[in-house]
Amino acid sequence: MSTDPISTASPAESQPNANTRKVFIKTYGCQMNVYDSIRMGDALASEGYAPTEEMEEADLILLNTCHIREKAADKVYSALGRLRDMKKARTAQGQELMIGVAGCVAQAEGEEILRREPSVDVVIGPQTYHRLPAALRRAREGDRVVDTDYAVEDKFEHLPMAEKAQVRARGVSAFLTVQEGCDKFCTFCVVPYTRGSEVSRPLRQILDEAQRLVDSGVREVTLLGQNVNAWRATGPDGREWGLGDLLYRLAEIPGLARLRYTTSHPRDMDDRLIQAHRDLRTLMPYLHLPVQSGSDRILRAMNRRHTAEEYLRLIARIRSVKPDMAMSGDFIVGFPGETDADFEDTLQIVEAVNYAQAFSFKYSTRPGTPGADLPDQIPEEVKAERLERLQSLLLKQQAAFAKSCVGKVIDLLLEKPGRMPGQIIGRSPWLQSVNVDAKPSQIGDIIPVRIIGTGPNSLFAEPVGP
Ligand code: SAH
Ligand code: SF4
Ligand code: F3S
Repeated sequence: MSTDPISTASPAESQPNANTRKVFIKTYGCQMNVYDSIRMGDALASEGYAPTEEMEEADLILLNTCHIREKAADKVYSALGRLRDMKKARTAQGQELMIGVAGCVAQAEGEEILRREPSVDVVIGPQTYHRLPAALRRAREGDRVVDTDYAVEDKFEHLPMAEKAQVRARGVSAFLTVQEGCDKFCTFCVVPYTRGSEVSRPLRQILDEAQRLVDSGVREVTLLGQNVNAWRATGPDGREWGLGDLLYRLAEIPGLARLRYTTSHPRDMDDRLIQAHRDLRTLMPYLHLPVQSGSDRILRAMNRRHTAEEYLRLIARIRSVKPDMAMSGDFIVGFPGETDADFEDTLQIVEAVNYAQAFSFKYSTRPGTPGADLPDQIPEEVKAERLERLQSLLLKQQAAFAKSCVGKVIDLLLEKPGRMPGQIIGRSPWLQSVNVDAKPSQIGDIIPVRIIGTGPNSLFAEPVGP
């Protein structure tokens, strides 16, 4: 491990923790932030920062933030308010506490964060994480650093990977970002502004990382992207490859037992990808395919660029090759101009699809997006009432899906110790948490189990077979 030259230069700084600074990373938002936090942690480890789960003992607190809804962004400022007091107390004791803001709020608000929060030392956007160690060094010299450029160089190429042992300690299921950014410009959404335009990671980099994960004991890889199925690269055969081709290639890696991907846009579900679901046993039968609304009028206003009918036809095609595909989705209620009839269309599309899992939100007006300027913003109480109706329908479907699994024998990937001694928690092919009696030494195995019951957020199973 290399250490920060600034911290070791002066004897006055040789407190017990001078060489082993600790970093606490708090992650908000989507899986891509979860992945980025891991990569930032790895980059900081090679700068001499050990990770800690205790905020109190950290020398550096990094908030990896989300800007998707107003509430998400507000959380960051209230967290920073609390950190300000913590930093004051530390400074009074002559101790250091550095505060960094990363992620989508950093990208969206940049300098503004420094103005609003004097305790923040570093603001770093999602495309410049490879420059975080350098930014921290500058901050330790007394600068307040904002780095939110869209870097020309590829951050992942410059971010170190963790040691195998560390990867192993993180478990048997891992994320792997293959695509970032978004060119879709849905009128409600900040992502095209916070993450920039669509960029695909090169094939070689993805294959190397997947192989490394597998070599470290990972059995399941979830490919990530804001629009993961917009991933493109030139394949070794000189053809343009899409996500389907990538999945076929990844399925050849021995030991990589399960593949997943998220999040997909309906317009980018091409034939090859659907074919992959038909052909690849390792590609799990679970698809997160947000539709947002069931009303064509609202879909148009959202700039989703497909109709409700097209979405339903797409799902029918997917189910024709993969009948047991579990569908998941995202919904927004109360988009500007949404009438009762539009909302009824949303309930109807939910009825038609029958979701195994879903996420639903009240429309949140985001500054800088076209939706913010639309007339007919919907009153909060109407949004709340619609959300409640939608969620109760979705919950009913979710419970029915869980119930329909009872009695089935399924493959379970054993992931981690359960709450009860003697139990292990695993994942079903449909992403459900399942509790089963098993030994810790079996973690990483895929075993056949029979589902025998359902709980509020998980299923119960018994092992079958010899
Ligand atoms: N790229 C994905 C979604 C990324 S954001 C897609 O196209 O589906 C995750 C979810 O947050 C979205 O699907 C949407 O349901 C929700 N969301 C995004 N912006 C929102 C806003 N302004 N208000 C409420 N929900 C929002
Ligand atoms: Fe946002 Fe739409 Fe892009 Fe998804 S596709 S990230 S909802 S702009
Ligand atoms: Fe949030 Fe940024 Fe992800 S806004 S949802 S953290 S891409």
